[in-house]
Amino acid sequence: MSGALAEVSEVTKVYRTGGQEFPALSEVSLRLESGEFSMLAGPSGCGKTTLLSILGGVLRPTTGSVSVLGNDLSTMTERELEDYRLSTVGFIFQGHNLLACLTAEENVTVMLELRGTPRRRARERAREILRRVKLGGKEHKRPPDLSIGERQRVAVARALAGDPQLILADEPTASLDAANGTAVMAVLRELAKTEGKTVLTVTHDNRIFHLADRVLQMEDGRLLVSEEPL
Ligand SMILES: Nc1ncnc2c1ncn2[C@@H]1O[C@H](COP(=O)(O)OP(=O)(O)OP(=O)(O)O)[C@@H](O)[C@H]1O
Ligand SMILES: [Mg+2]
Repeated sequence: MSGALAEVSEVTKVYRTGGQEFPALSEVSLRLESGEFSMLAGPSGCGKTTLLSILGGVLRPTTGSVSVLGNDLSTMTERELEDYRLSTVGFIFQGHNLLACLTAEENVTVMLELRGTPRRRARERAREILRRVKLGGKEHKRPPDLSIGERQRVAVARALAGDPQLILADEPTASLDAANGTAVMAVLRELAKTEGKTVLTVTHDNRIFHLADRVLQMEDGRLLVSEEPL
């Protein structure tokens, strides 16, 4: 066995809707190492979100296998997949998906409480992680009262709060200006480099490709530079 954190092996995804079949991923093989910061780029509709969803245990592949930390996701029950999502994966979405009625701190603690962290510890951890994304002092603001860049950093804090080993981000900087976008990417890169997290982020922004260890290009459901099947 290799030391890869995640191994995607010959994964195919066919969406079936209204009697029609749409192949979204064709034989994708990919290895993600611990401490690796990779970006995923490619035209709209090429399968980027589908690949992230499969790695995150939100979607199951049609064929092929995905294993993370040595566990084969395809053999997991729904309950086990739910645990996997909570314990191992941190998701950051393009739209930040924060709850507008909760403060920044509460948006983060909610995720920790879902994982069973006691409230007091969850609050401490939320404050610590909000400081880390440079939101110290803004814990009690609600998303509508934060700038767009700050909201996205709350979303990053929420994804990181549970200390996930695998961080999946779907265009986290799409609504940000260059400076805020680079700041978010720098936080993700630092996590990979200082804490050994594995980060895979979708981006269209070639101005930030230089921050990545590698840029995976996708087209029509395939990785342009394909890795050997495992
Ligand atoms: N639930 C679904 N049912 C049917 N087809 C789907 C479904 N979700 C996605 N698709 C199709 O699968 C293909 C890949 O979609 P996906 O969302 O992975 O693309 P993407 O690369 O993330 O695109 P974008 O950059 O626009 O977000 C698209 O052609 C899309 O229309
Ligand atoms: Mg997408």
